[in-house]
Order: sequence, then C-alpha cells, then structure tokens
Amino acid sequence: MSAPGWGVHDDGGPPADPLALARAWLPDDADPDRPRVTLSTVGTDGYPDARTVLLSAFDDSGFAFHTSAASRKVAELAAVPRATLTVLWPDWTRQLVVRGDVVADSPERSAAAWGARSEYLRRLAWANTDELAALDLARRLEAWAAQQVPGQADSWVGYRVQPREMTFWAAHPEAPSRRVQYTRSPDGWTWRYRAG
Ligand SMILES: Cc1cc2nc3c(=O)[nH]c(=O)nc-3n(C[C@H](O)[C@H](O)[C@H](O)COP(=O)(O)O)c2cc1C
Repeated sequence: MSAPGWGVHDDGGPPADPLALARAWLPDDADPDRPRVTLSTVGTDGYPDARTVLLSAFDDSGFAFHTSAASRKVAELAAVPRATLTVLWPDWTRQLVVRGDVVADSPERSAAAWGARSEYLRRLAWANTDELAALDLARRLEAWAAQQVPGQADSWVGYRVQPREMTFWAAHPEAPSRRVQYTRSPDGWTWRYRAG
C-alpha cells in the first residue's frame, strides 16, 4: 500500500481532513491489490461479529465493501447499520480504524466493483452457499466446475461506511506507537493524539 504523506510520528500536526490522510495511506481504487480489511458488525445475538473483506473503493462518501446479499453480515447490518473497518498494513507498522454508519452503495458503484473482481471472486459471490459448503469434496468440485459465471449477481450488494471516527496508528522503531484519532462533529473534524 502507498507510502504515507504525513506520518503519525511527524511534528507539525496532522492534516485537518482525515480523508486526505487516508488517501495518502491507502492505494488508489484502480490498484487491483485491494486492502484486506476486518469488518466488524453487531451480531444479531448482541455479540460483536467480524470477518475479512476487500476494501473495494474509498472516497469522501465513505469506505466501500461488497458481499453476498444472503450473508450474515447483511442481516446484521439490516438490524444495526453501523460497522468498524480495521486496516492492518502488511508490514504491521500501520493500522487504520474507521467507525461509522453504513449505507447501501449505489448500483453504479456496485457494478464497477463487480467489474474489478477476478472471475474466481465473481463465482464465489454467486455460488458460495451453505448448501454447497455442506457437500463432500467431490460433489463440491463438480458443482463448482459446472457453475457458469453470470453477469453481475443480483445477490451481490455493496455498502459504504461513512466515518464518524478515524484512528491512524503507527509503530516507531525507537519510540512508543502513537495514534491520531479524528472525531466528526457538526462543525467538522477534530483530532487528538492517543497512546497505544
Ligand atoms: C482475504 C479475504 C478476503 C475476503 N473478501 C471478501 C469480500 O470482499 N466480500 C465478502 O463477502 N467476503 C469476503 N471474504 C470472506 C469473508 O471473510 C466471510 O467469510 C464471508 O463474507 C461470510 O461472512 P459472514 O457470514 O460474516 O457474512 C474474504 C475472506 C478473506 C480471507
């Protein structure tokens, strides 16, 4: 993922707009190597739930991910449309946590994200059901091989997390790690440094 413009350990204070900082940290939407993100939701049993998804895209309207309409996360978001996304950089030196409200992505943006997925991931979106998962391996292979890759699956949906809090964490080789936490208020974003 791209190199940071401003680093959490740099002097001078962070940019006023956390989305600008996220833009400096995260790869461009056109980069096929999508960030792997932990998506946390509120489970229907009240316990936190979490899984990894790909960050499909990101702009001022939020952080987008896409998934099967039949999935557990979709049912959870219908009940409580709030989520947290945690991005861990592969070298473990940076982390970004985004907490916010979740809204449906537009059909145009979902179609664009669908077009950017590999054939394997499109098949998964279409054919990855509990019924198939319960079959023995030979029958799973058979069902998978027979699967046609359709156009955009109706069952494929997208969401955007609209941030209300964004926390950038950075390690330092000779100093404690440090975070800068932005919180959105009606007047705009405020920020503070946090330990940890
Ligand atoms: C690296 C990685 C990337 C993944 N990307 C996605 C994704 O973009 N969308 C998705 O629906 N599932 C993705 N998955 C699968 C999810 O982690 C999860 O197993 C699946 O979506 C079902 O989750 P749920 O039952 O909590 O809804 C990915 C898994 C891994 C390990």
